[in-house]
Amino acid sequence: MCFSDPHSPAWEPLLSAAWRARDRAYAPYSGFRVGAALLGADGEVVAGSNVENAAYPLCLCAERNAVAAAVSRGLEPGGLRALVVVAEGGSLVPPCGACRQVLAEFAEDLPILLANRGERSLCGLRELLPRAFTGRHLT
Ligand code: THU
Repeated sequence: MCFSDPHSPAWEPLLSAAWRARDRAYAPYSGFRVGAALLGADGEVVAGSNVENAAYPLCLCAERNAVAAAVSRGLEPGGLRALVVVAEGGSLVPPCGACRQVLAEFAEDLPILLANRGERSLCGLRELLPRAFTGRHLT
């Protein structure tokens, strides 16, 4: 699996799952629909959509919903291989700060592909969240 090339075919199942999840997003307040898809070490792809609420601070991000779904299917720390985040619009959407922190619980580094309908950009979790706070700091 080659996740160092943003155009590698290895991304395709993740992109399809992320776009499907984005179509199912519940975003009546912002109108900003996001889809995320994670690849686990077991080869399973797990997706998440953003889910908003009339009480705005309760809005849930697509990335964290994907992590929660993956945990319910057995994800453990070290068990993530790749992440795709998709949205429509002019700019690519990187995971928000809270999602970066939650991802860092499960992966020291992670290739992350950001995509919209016309563009792709590859980045890494370590680059997005350098010197992450993790459970190691609690000892
Ligand atoms: N959102 C995500 O799903 N992921 C991000 O990383 C950034 C923001 C969602 C949350 C909210 O439903 C909408 O985008 C606008 O912030």
